[in-house]
This record gives sequence, C-alpha cells and structure tokens, in this order.
Amino acid sequence: MTFPSEPEAVGRDLPRRDGAVKVLGTATYAYETPLANAAYLHAVQATIARGRVTALDTAAAEALDGVVAVLTPGNAERLASTEDRELAVLQGEEVAFRGQVVALVVADSSEVARHGAALVRVEYAQQPHDAELRADREDLYAPESVNPDLPTDTSEGDVDAALAAAEVSVEETYTTAMYHNNPLEPHATAALWDPAGEGFLTLWDSTQGVHPTRTALASVFGLDEAQLRVVCPYVGGGFGSKGQPHVNVVLAAMAARAVPGRPVRLALTRQQMFSLTGYRTPTIQRCRLGADRDGTITAIAVDVVELTSRIKEFAEQSGVPARMMYASPNRSTTHRLAALDVPVPSWMRAPGECPGMFGPEVAMDELAERLGLDPVELRIRNEPAVEPGSGKPFSSRNLVGCLREGAVRFGWAERDPRPGVRRRGDWLVGTGVAASTYPVSRMPKSTATIRREGERYAVEIGAADLGTGTWTTLAQIAADALGVTVALVDVRIGDTDYPMASVAGGSSGMTTWGSAVVEAAGAFRAKYGSEPPDGAEASGSVQPADDRHAMHAFGAQFAEAHVHLDTGEVRVPRLLGVFAAGRIINPRTARSQFIGGMTMGLSMALHEQSVLDPRTGHVVNHDLAGYHITANADVGAIEAYWLAEDDPHVNAMGSKGIGEIGIVGTAAAVSNAVWHACGVRVRDLPITLDKVL
Ligand code: MOS
Repeated sequence: MTFPSEPEAVGRDLPRRDGAVKVLGTATYAYETPLANAAYLHAVQATIARGRVTALDTAAAEALDGVVAVLTPGNAERLASTEDRELAVLQGEEVAFRGQVVALVVADSSEVARHGAALVRVEYAQQPHDAELRADREDLYAPESVNPDLPTDTSEGDVDAALAAAEVSVEETYTTAMYHNNPLEPHATAALWDPAGEGFLTLWDSTQGVHPTRTALASVFGLDEAQLRVVCPYVGGGFGSKGQPHVNVVLAAMAARAVPGRPVRLALTRQQMFSLTGYRTPTIQRCRLGADRDGTITAIAVDVVELTSRIKEFAEQSGVPARMMYASPNRSTTHRLAALDVPVPSWMRAPGECPGMFGPEVAMDELAERLGLDPVELRIRNEPAVEPGSGKPFSSRNLVGCLREGAVRFGWAERDPRPGVRRRGDWLVGTGVAASTYPVSRMPKSTATIRREGERYAVEIGAADLGTGTWTTLAQIAADALGVTVALVDVRIGDTDYPMASVAGGSSGMTTWGSAVVEAAGAFRAKYGSEPPDGAEASGSVQPADDRHAMHAFGAQFAEAHVHLDTGEVRVPRLLGVFAAGRIINPRTARSQFIGGMTMGLSMALHEQSVLDPRTGHVVNHDLAGYHITANADVGAIEAYWLAEDDPHVNAMGSKGIGEIGIVGTAAAVSNAVWHACGVRVRDLPITLDKVL
C-alpha cells in the first residue's frame, strides 16, 4: 500500500466529473431510467398510529381505467424474511405507525396510480397509541448498544462527587428537535423482474450503497445475490436516509415481481418521505459540567433520552462525542430510549455527533461564562493528551489549531465577553464559538479493480456519489496510486456489477474505497510494472484499520448572530469554520461538503423541526411549506478553511472523512452567539423568536 507523499492529482482543485451532466439535466436518476412500458406505483398509507386494518376495499381503485393491480396484505407475496420489520411491508394487518403502507396501486401512469390510491377504502380497529417523548417516562430503557455498535453507557471516576466538590458547575437540559432528511431527489426506484430461469431482479435505486441494498433485498425476498443487480450512477442527495433501503425499495421489487417482465417506477412524494424514509430522533440531553476556578474540568456527564419505533430499534449515539472531546477525570454518559408508535428513525447527517454536540457545546459556553473565561481558552485548557476512555494516542488532533486559526480569521480577539451590549440599529449583535468532531471510520469490506483499456485506466468499484464528489476524488486517488495523469483514469461506480463496496455513510467512503483503490493500484504495479499492456488487470481490497490510535477529525465553528430588539427575529450573517481533517483530496469538493454541512447546521439552529402531534402520531408539517429549511435569503457569508494536517495513520492517503463534520457544532455556535447578542440562553432548538423575547 504505497501512496506518494507529494501527490500530483490529490489536493488539486479539479471540477466534478459529474457536474456538467447534473447541471445540464442529462444525468439519469433512478426514476428516469429509460424503460419502455413502465407501470407506476403509489402507496396507500395508514391514517391511524396503532391498530389493525379490518377492511380494505380496493374495488373502486381496480375499476379505474389504467389500474393494473392493487397489492394488499391479502394478495401481496409473502416475504422470505420479515426480520426487519420496517421492510416487512404488506405482510399483515397490524398498523404500527401513522403513514405505514397498507396497500400499493400499480397503474399505467403515475396520475392513475395516485388517483387509484385515493380510492382505496381502509377501515381500522384503532388502539390507543403513544407518540410522546418525555424524559420522565417510566418505560425508558437502555438499548444493548448505540449506533453503530458502541457502548450504551460509560462511566469513569465519580461524577456526582466531583460535581458536588466543583467550584463552578453547569447543570442544564438541552433539546434538539425531530428532523427529517429532505434530499432534493426523493426516494425513487425503478425495478424489473425477469422471470426467466430462477428469475432476475434489476433495481435502479437512489441509494448510498448498491451492494448493501442488494444484500438487504436478497434477504427480504429470499433471492441469491447473483439474482439481483442494483444500479445507481447518480444520487440527488441522501444525508443518510438512502444509506439503507427503506420500504419503498421493497415495494418496487414486490410490484415488479407481481407484473413480471414489465418495469415499474416508484417515487415517494415529499410528504410520504416524512413517514417512510427515516428521520433523526428528537433528543433530551441533561448535561453536567464541573470545573475548578481556573477552568480545569473535573466532571462531564451527559444523559440522553431519545425515541425509537416500536417495530425496529435505532439508538442514536448522541452521548458519544462527550466521551472524547475534553479531558476530565470523572465522566459518565448514558442513552435511554422510549419505543413509541412512530415511524422508524434512522441515519441523518452525523448521527450522534450532530445532536450530541449541541448540549455539551452550549454547556461549555455556559461554563466559560460562569468562570469568566473566554470560551476558546476554556476548550484549549481542557485538551486531553490521549483519547479519554480508551487511553489511545490520537493519530492527529488539531482542535486547538482550529480554534486558534478560526479565532484569528473571525476576529475573535476584539470580542467583548459581555452579553447584550452591542447594538447595530434595531439589532443586538453577538458572536459565538463551538467545536466540531467526527470519527474516522473504515468499513471492513470493499474491493476495487483496475484495468488497462488501451491507453486509459478503468477503476471499478461499487461506490456511491451522493453529491459528495466520489466520481472525481477516486480518480485523483487512483491516478496518484498508479503514477499516471488523472485525465487517463476512468472511474466506474454505482453498480453491483462492479466489485463490492461499502455504504457511503459515516463519512467512511473515501477512507474505505480509496484504500481499496490504493491496494488495487499497488497490486497492478507489482504485476505489470510501469508498462502495463492493454487488458492488464488487478484488484485490491481495503485492509483492517490501525487500531492503536484514536482517529477523529476536528473543527471549530464561529457564528455571528443578530437578534431584532422588537421582534426577536434571529439572523446569522456569518459562519466561519476551520477544520482539521487530514489531507484534503480535492479542495473544491471538500469546501462544498464543509459549507453544505454548515448550512444544514444553520438550518438546524434556526428552522428545522418536525412537529409530531402526539394525538395523531402525525408529523403535521410534512412538506417543505411547513418544514422550514434554511433558504438562500437565510444564509449570509459561510467560510470554510482547513489546516494542513499530516496523518500517516488514518489511511494511505492521509485523509479523514468530511461529509458530516460540517454540521457538527454549528447549532451550538449559533446558540452561543444568540446568547452573546441578547443575553438569552436558548437550550431548545430551533432558536425561534418566541424563545428570545
Ligand atoms: Mo451518513 S447519516 O452516515 O449517510
């Protein structure tokens, strides 16, 4: 595994290879796959949150001209595996959450399918449901582990004793809202079942991982993986919601098998995405910090309460970042869940770190305030020498560098620490800071193949580019690993016909696939030297990660907030982030990831909030009219910088994943800036005007 220490292609500001086709509209997304005579699907959803379907009248839908079939629990195929209860669709009469699919209309056009769905009459025997998350619920339980497989609770030293003895302390509760992933491209699939022989299923699916989707679907339908192909060259965003297949993919496959030989298309509506494609749990975070007068932290405790669904557990690891951010001899973290009659929660950009850095990073600001210490200085004073908990050395840790560089770029030195004393016209002005972090993850399996084709080199791996830049950055890595010019490298991704690749999730893509590409290039060069003949070919697979080091990316985010004196309106004209994320493969795609994450963090700070009405179990603002996201007019200056960081331990390239860290810490920085502007601590997101008045 060799990679040049001074690479040619890596580090260059190259335009995205998929940019032109995406902008021109010629990139083919899943739903648009050219397939003749396709049938269209539309799902019928439950209007109760818990109970049973007692009657399903499909006669009116079936009588509609153009309706091909209506699939119901009564006639849908029995799935081979119903172990994953989220995916076990149309397998019975039980309703476990509002919005659950109870029937599927197959028709000659999308309009007729949708009309037909509206004509399906459903009767229910309703049972009392429970969809309210509260920290005082008596049925909270400790999951066996938290996402992806981390300890539920940790404890070192004696937190209670340290807090009792602390000269200064903060004990507050912070909450983050329920959030829904809203990629531009909805969850969409085209599917074709070829009944010849044992049968063969092709899925053109908008996914963050073609191979993981194939594995999941093969299991659900009892197919051999060789009977399934998943294709996905382009993705219009995912943010984790396309990291594992949801029920829409099963529905498309099921419908395709019901009309053998005929392709089907299913695109969820925006509203349907609010119950069928995952979301981020709301969190209630009790955070306790204790410190000596000089700002040395003596206790850190974070206790998180979250929800999951009754049919499938997802335990977001929100207490995890507090385990390693700052030094403290006494520390405890816990996660408790309520299993409710709600849709299944799942991954959303930086699960764990994103919500889990809100409470602690606001608490740090509150501690700095009580200590009379600058919040940048407080963080610097509590840098750990090794990773707390594990005791492992960091492969590299440049949080202090990010804080210092950010402070200089932002103009932090002139800051007056007093809250509520700066006015500009009718606006109060303040600034705030918070830290960012995200682990460096590597998936255990991925393989790449490199082949000489004439004068060119083809790199094949079933990786995904969900807008992150994979098409471009894998070519850069391959070029340097092969020692050839990047213009000669063709990348082929997004198809299970290519070698097996892991999911584009947990910011692990480049570490995992890039490592496989470097291994393949090493094998290729060892076999053919510098004059490979046409057709020369070699493969390589990602090797196990270094387990002697703690590996994380870090960052510091600075925000300026304006709060209107009369209305309480909050504006954020400026965000500035400095990140330490190893070697940057491509500054253009990297900057796009950082500012994209920060924009989403601003959205979390000020706007985003899924409003679940516990009386109905329904997210009442289930579209982009009611679910507010940061729009162009909300975004001022967003600047993203990075430190030159040399880390020989993370992978051959020296890179750390950057897809998620940008959203981590932003909301805390904004909340801290809002306090500095107007003197009000907003501990509950989003920071709406009613909370500062
Ligand atoms: Mo990311 S939420 O792990 O796709």
